[in-house]
Amino acid sequence: KTEHYQEPYRPQYHFSPKEKWMNDPNGMVYYKGVYHLFYQFYPEDIVWGPMHWGHAVSEDLLHWEHKPIALYPDEHGLIFSGSAVVDENNSSGFGTEENPPLVAIYTYHLMEGEKAGRKDFQTQGIAYSLDNGDTWTKYAGNPVIGNEGIKDFRDPKVMWHKESEKWILTLVAGDHARFYSSENLKEWTLLSGFGKDKGAHGGVWECPDLIPMTVEGTDEEKWVLLISINPGAPNGGSGTQYFVGDFDGNTFTTDQTETKWIDLGTDNYAGVTYNNAPETNPIFIGWMSNWTYARDTPTEKWRSAMTMPRKLMLNKTEGDYQLFNYPIDGVDKIISEKEGIDVGIAANATETMSFKNLNQSEIRFTTSSRDFQLKLSNSAKDELVLTIMGEDKTFILDRSRSGKVDFQEDFGKGVQQMPLPLLPEGEYEVRMLVDWSSIEIFINGGQYVMTSQIFPNGNYTDLTIKNLSGDKLQCNDFQVNEIKSVWE
Ligand code: FRU
Repeated sequence: KTEHYQEPYRPQYHFSPKEKWMNDPNGMVYYKGVYHLFYQFYPEDIVWGPMHWGHAVSEDLLHWEHKPIALYPDEHGLIFSGSAVVDENNSSGFGTEENPPLVAIYTYHLMEGEKAGRKDFQTQGIAYSLDNGDTWTKYAGNPVIGNEGIKDFRDPKVMWHKESEKWILTLVAGDHARFYSSENLKEWTLLSGFGKDKGAHGGVWECPDLIPMTVEGTDEEKWVLLISINPGAPNGGSGTQYFVGDFDGNTFTTDQTETKWIDLGTDNYAGVTYNNAPETNPIFIGWMSNWTYARDTPTEKWRSAMTMPRKLMLNKTEGDYQLFNYPIDGVDKIISEKEGIDVGIAANATETMSFKNLNQSEIRFTTSSRDFQLKLSNSAKDELVLTIMGEDKTFILDRSRSGKVDFQEDFGKGVQQMPLPLLPEGEYEVRMLVDWSSIEIFINGGQYVMTSQIFPNGNYTDLTIKNLSGDKLQCNDFQVNEIKSVWE
């Protein structure tokens, strides 16, 4: 195991940079059997600073190889978030048809001094690679999208739109998204805007993603628009909302009135999906942190990690569209699955099971009960408490005593709440992935999800189940499985 990956709190099966600061995932593209992950990276410190694109590659989205920095700041500014595409027909002319270029589309952000008093300090630029993402050349004609005075103008996500045979770029402009089209990735035409009067607006809109999807089990095609927003998330700070609607090559429309969130935990932000991935369902990765305290978390050599890669599924539940997200199937290969047992707990009783280490584990079972509490704890008296309360149709995560929480005033404050209005009657699955500084909770196959950072003072060893109802609590196929480190 590389020595870096033995530090306190170092995630053992989530992506984290070898060292220094990381935020958003960028340029997620699959090419020639390889998943590329670029990310917002500051190579000099463990706090945010002049942004670069870090780079890593993987064949399974679990085991990653670190690559040299892909994009450095230049005279147009720092390199903020963006995407990457495979320009298969060489529409940009940067490569040849035999060796099509990978093209990255990102935001330029002027450094502090230069941006003073200006609103046009963010523009969009492009760069290309002819060697599978190893080295990149910036386009001499940058920026490709200038700025006529919009303060927050960033995070271009580009996709190939089959129907119109054009590239479609989605970016955010403060309080709304904008769509552009292009035939060559260099010249862009503004098509339309969306969202000034839709969804949550408690903060700036960031990191959009426009995704064509098919409703599971049907032929119905819809478009999903992801929008990260900071602050203004239901449990404080950063969060990602989504809209389900239609896109005709020009405009995105939706009759959705309710604000919907992809994850109700505090720590899943700026997530977007892969371009060109071979899977039928979009593959999503988010940054497992929150701007409220991202700079303060108690790690020393590096800061923050990505979520487990997740498969997005669009479902229609009681006539309402719901975007599910659930760990990719491949994660099973790092989980040593044990035989499940059926656990029955008497009315209002409590049962505790002890393990060597729950910090690198999957805990899962199915149940039809809606009134119980799960507690992960250790001899340092840290406890992470999860409660499902049927009457209120709410799930609650309490990390206020989960370990180190006092590095920032909001981290351990209050509880995280998630309403479960459409949880079906009958049996459903509870699945949790615990790593050394995170927990990801998936209820009913990803219908309701919570991702949260935790920093226990020692590894959790005890799992307590408390039956909060007057009926017997039945947990079926109960498993606590060890998850292997991907850094060994
Ligand atoms: C989201 C974000 C993006 C921006 C980047 C800068 O977390 O604020 O909007 O491009 O981070 O690092």
